[in-house]
Amino acid sequence: MYYEIFLRGKTGAVIEFLNIMGELIIRDYRPEDKEEWLRLRVVSFLHTAYYDDVYDDRIPRDNPLIDLVAELDGELVGLLETEIDPDPESIFEHPPGLCGIVWNLAVHPDHRRKGIGGKLLSELENRARQAGITYLEAWTRDDEDVLRWYGGMGFEIKYVYLHVYLENEEHKGILKSCVKGLTPVKSFCHGIGVSASKLVKKHRVKRIHACNGMMKILA
Ligand SMILES: CC(C)(COP(=O)(O)OP(=O)(O)OC[C@H]1O[C@@H](n2cnc3c(N)ncnc32)[C@H](O)[C@@H]1OP(=O)(O)O)[C@@H](O)C(=O)NCCC(=O)NCCS
Repeated sequence: MYYEIFLRGKTGAVIEFLNIMGELIIRDYRPEDKEEWLRLRVVSFLHTAYYDDVYDDRIPRDNPLIDLVAELDGELVGLLETEIDPDPESIFEHPPGLCGIVWNLAVHPDHRRKGIGGKLLSELENRARQAGITYLEAWTRDDEDVLRWYGGMGFEIKYVYLHVYLENEEHKGILKSCVKGLTPVKSFCHGIGVSASKLVKKHRVKRIHACNGMMKILA
């Protein structure tokens, strides 16, 4: 439960605003959380650059996880899934030691800006240090508020490449099928060393995201 209390003066103007949050628990993900976790992920990515990055099951990882959820009065409101990767194939330079790669971070849109994302990250960092992780790696697209959040939490952008979506006519001059009778209708491409403005101007591509690789060194 989340309560908002407005104290009004004689004129009706708000003189004090209080918000009271119920009990927030940061805990390990449990197998029985799966359906709620999947739904929370979809709802949290709505209206972000990842709105159509939908899973209908959890993705199995090769290595152990630090798999956290935030529960508010019995409901999942946040998730942070991090893989402990002993041998990361990072594109950018990183310190020696274990990497914590953040695969999924999301807070329910109705519960943002209450410090839940920050609390999830702080618990991740405590556990990461105990597990001997020396740095965290995370990737995100170009949502300004999300980039600002990561920046405020001490992550630095180390690498940027493009996520390019093509639809119908946009394939012309870029992608062609090698199989007779098979026509690409929607495609998703990674762009490294490709000019986004050229794709927009010359090929009229409408959906291009910068994908930002970020790192935070854990002291
Ligand atoms: C990024 C995300 C996880 C942050 O979650 P959050 O719970 O809102 O994070 P916090 O509340 O800890 O911090 C958010 C902001 O609220 C501020 N804040 C924290 N507690 C606050 C409070 N009690 N009152 C008002 N503001 C508060 C923080 O300072 C921060 O400000 P900033 O964005 O200017 O730095 C969330 O926006 C989200 O789920 N985004 C969509 C999913 C997504 O794109 N995930 C990343 C893909 S990899």
